[in-house]
Amino acid sequence: MKRQESVLDRIKETPDERESMMTHDTENTAVYKLREARSVTVITGAGVSAESGIPTFRGPDGTWSNAKIEDVATPEGFQRNPQMVWEWYLRRRNEYAGAQPNPAHDVIAAMEQHYPEFLLVTQNIDTLHTRAGNRKVLEIHGNINQARCLRCDTVFENPHFTLPENSITCPKCHAPARPHILWFGEMYDPAQLEQINHFLAATDVVLVVGTSGVVTTPVYFALYAKQHGAYVIEVNPNVSEVSKDAHCHLRQNAGVALPQLWQAVMAEEQ
Ligand code: APR
Repeated sequence: MKRQESVLDRIKETPDERESMMTHDTENTAVYKLREARSVTVITGAGVSAESGIPTFRGPDGTWSNAKIEDVATPEGFQRNPQMVWEWYLRRRNEYAGAQPNPAHDVIAAMEQHYPEFLLVTQNIDTLHTRAGNRKVLEIHGNINQARCLRCDTVFENPHFTLPENSITCPKCHAPARPHILWFGEMYDPAQLEQINHFLAATDVVLVVGTSGVVTTPVYFALYAKQHGAYVIEVNPNVSEVSKDAHCHLRQNAGVALPQLWQAVMAEEQ
């Protein structure tokens, strides 16, 4: 897929530059950059929802310690056992429906209101960002509430919280549907990548919140923006694959770090 390759491969070609760009600014600089910014991009992963009670993917209690990726998160796994895969996603859908946005989601929603140019790119499928109020959001790994027709590709809101006998079918053509989730081995939506690429090339500040970067897309996004002059802030209690490319690291839980950071930005503004 041409567009994806052009964005990501260009960055992969510059490993030495990656090393030389390691910097460690203070939180004061981050506050100043956010106060001055006109365009802000937020990139989130599972960690932003951890304080809402949704487990992250990796680590001892992570989702991938209780389920096999090849069984539940690949097209081949779905082909082998669609009923089991649907049941797994519907269980998670029910869990997510019971979770509430936390203060980190609230700050990210407030940022969208504040900045003239804003984009939220989330790997999360839990819909907590939209429930917190974000509208300028690209869910690059899909959405737990949606299904996609296996025949005509129509994406639709799934009305089911438990699996019906005839499985879940397309409202248009009645063919079977699958969860509208980007699984391992599948390509990102090139139109979304193009939009993100365009935005990152002109954004002032990028916040990368709660992602390990083991799935490397956020690392490439952050680095691409940095190469175009953006200031990169990481919010994560642990070192991640993004860390070496961030200017500033807030090593706290997002639900604590983001409200404090945002309060400081707003205080500076008065
Ligand atoms: N606040 C901020 N970050 C946190 C918090 C918190 N309260 N708790 C944990 N984290 C951090 C962890 O330190 C870790 O770096 O969140 C990160 C979660 O990493 P992963 O579990 O790997 O989740 P993520 O990066 O979102 O995974 C990316 O991989 O499995 C696929 O499709 C799935 O979207 C997912 C993708």
